[in-house]
Amino acid sequence: MLRTHTNGELTKKHIKKIVILTGWVHRRRDHGSLIFIDLRDRYGLTQCTFDPEKDKASWQAADVLRPEDVVKIEGVVVARPAEMVNKKLATGEIEVEGTAIEVLSKSATPPFEIKAEHELQKPVNEDLRLQYRYLDMRQPHMQTNLRRRHEMVKVMRDYFHEEGFLEIETPILIKGTPEGSREYIVPSRLHRGKVYVLPQSPQQLKQLCMVGGLDKYFQIARCFRDEDLRADRQPEFTQLDIEMSFCEEEDIRQIVEKLLIKLSTKFLPHKKIAAVPFTRLTWHEAMLKYGSDKPDLRFDLEIVDVSDIVRGSGFTVFSHALANKGVVRALTIADGAKFSRKEIDELAEAAKIHGAKGLAYIIVADELKSPIVKFLTDVEQQSLLKATGAKKGDIIFFGADGETVVAESLGAVRLACADKLGLRDPNLLAYAWITNFPLFVRGEETGEIASAHHPFTRPRDEDLPLLDMDPLRVLAQQSDIVLNGVELGGGGMRIHQGDLQAKQFEILGISSAQAQARFGHLLEAFRYGVPPHGGTALGIDRLVMLFQEATSVRDVIAFPKNSRAEDTMLGAPSDPDPTTVKELGISLLKKKINA
Ligand code: AMO
Ligand code: AMP
Repeated sequence: MLRTHTNGELTKKHIKKIVILTGWVHRRRDHGSLIFIDLRDRYGLTQCTFDPEKDKASWQAADVLRPEDVVKIEGVVVARPAEMVNKKLATGEIEVEGTAIEVLSKSATPPFEIKAEHELQKPVNEDLRLQYRYLDMRQPHMQTNLRRRHEMVKVMRDYFHEEGFLEIETPILIKGTPEGSREYIVPSRLHRGKVYVLPQSPQQLKQLCMVGGLDKYFQIARCFRDEDLRADRQPEFTQLDIEMSFCEEEDIRQIVEKLLIKLSTKFLPHKKIAAVPFTRLTWHEAMLKYGSDKPDLRFDLEIVDVSDIVRGSGFTVFSHALANKGVVRALTIADGAKFSRKEIDELAEAAKIHGAKGLAYIIVADELKSPIVKFLTDVEQQSLLKATGAKKGDIIFFGADGETVVAESLGAVRLACADKLGLRDPNLLAYAWITNFPLFVRGEETGEIASAHHPFTRPRDEDLPLLDMDPLRVLAQQSDIVLNGVELGGGGMRIHQGDLQAKQFEILGISSAQAQARFGHLLEAFRYGVPPHGGTALGIDRLVMLFQEATSVRDVIAFPKNSRAEDTMLGAPSDPDPTTVKELGISLLKKKINA
């Protein structure tokens, strides 16, 4: 190595040692004639001093150094004068008196300063950060995030190894595996006109590993989904993917729960896990009480159904919703009576994003204050107070509409209130299992029945008779794991019988010819002895994001795409090379100029 030590290593015990350090010039300061160079690498910062009285040549070399130059410094370790000791720095008790500098590489002026986030005047624009990701990576928070990601993945690998799982790589060039998003395709040169599909997850392949007798599989798997991006979504992302044979759903939950407890206690020892074993809610309970299938359980604020109380109400918003087979639900916010008119309007806007037509409310003071009390009888008012448990100082919000609109809009109001009241405790880890998901949903755009998760999910045994009669009522052996309101992962038991799988395709409107064409390999495999099996997948990017308290998965991925799915550093996507296009036998639509 060109260095004897790293920049995070030297302490008082190295005093008088002659050392060679390498790294980037973090900062250069002139103190009279003395020059201070803070040298930086992944391990830390070391202060080096250059004194013209002691060594003119190295002082002159230090004088022309600029931030981000890469240098090699030789010198002797000395104790810092007492008043200059920096307790915050691992190397803060020493400095290196430089005797020689070699410039290994000069740096142009970087487009932004390489500093810790808290030292920056204002945050660096993310587009600029991503365009110069290799510079952005030098920032302390990126270094920490990427190191922590490595450490967490290492714990996962060791854990699954100890639990008897085999890490198996599955291919990236495959035939589509449906997980509900658009697919990325790769044209084939050898088979002109045909394409490979990039996996949305290794779902079918891990199931085929179970047919292959591998018993316990895991993979740190790259997945590709062409979907609209958000702070917790990327077009390519990484899953901790697992699958087991001869298991029951509970076994899958146990193996994941044990891992998450291990990761939390190792990496977030100062935080408290809200409940061990983790809280469990059925999907129905979660939607009813919290208006979300990924509830943030760091705080209570429960929603209650009050339909029966207001069924005959004179308030037509309520009675009409109920007459149209809808529901009326109430969300009580303790201490919410203090919300201003403006805040209540903001909350109504939050509800409207989810389709609500309004947000009726009652403020509980000495008397009930609300534009709607005049429509409610005394009995109705008293029953509402009793059902909601509201007391003086609280506010009750109401949603009256179809069940989904009410759940989602009150769910959004619940979160917005928690933010207003500062109820999202950053030091609490509220893990929850959401179980018994519906097997099917009615597609919002198409109106057709679609898989709630994916078409390989196993129905609950007791619901099998409903498959023909009322498929939308069938519940699945499927659970999600949620942390602080973020869906970390999901999975469950799979169908392992060809006839049941074929039936599920049929319900999904996939004809047997289509099923053969798309999933013939799976149906064929299911003819040769299949172990009952199940598994799950956790989003590693999301897990690291939450552990690091990052606001976006982009901050825990070395080279992420931006919100338009572009890599502005590489310039991807880009125009393809014409020769390649020709070889592939594909034709491209001409871009509309000024479209
Ligand atoms: P699912 O589609 O629920 O399940 O994905 C599992 C987890 O992967 C993460 N995730 C994402 N992370 C970042 N960007 C994305 N675009 C993205 N999409 C999903 C989430 C999610 O909970 N094959 C099944 C698993 C199984 O049944 O075993 C699957 O992929 O954290
Ligand atoms: P309106 O009768 O439309 O003036 O509404 C009276 C109150 O009921 C207002 O506070 C509205 O925000 C609220 N409201 C209207 N429609 C709904 C609805 N579907 N669910 C809940 N509150 C509503």
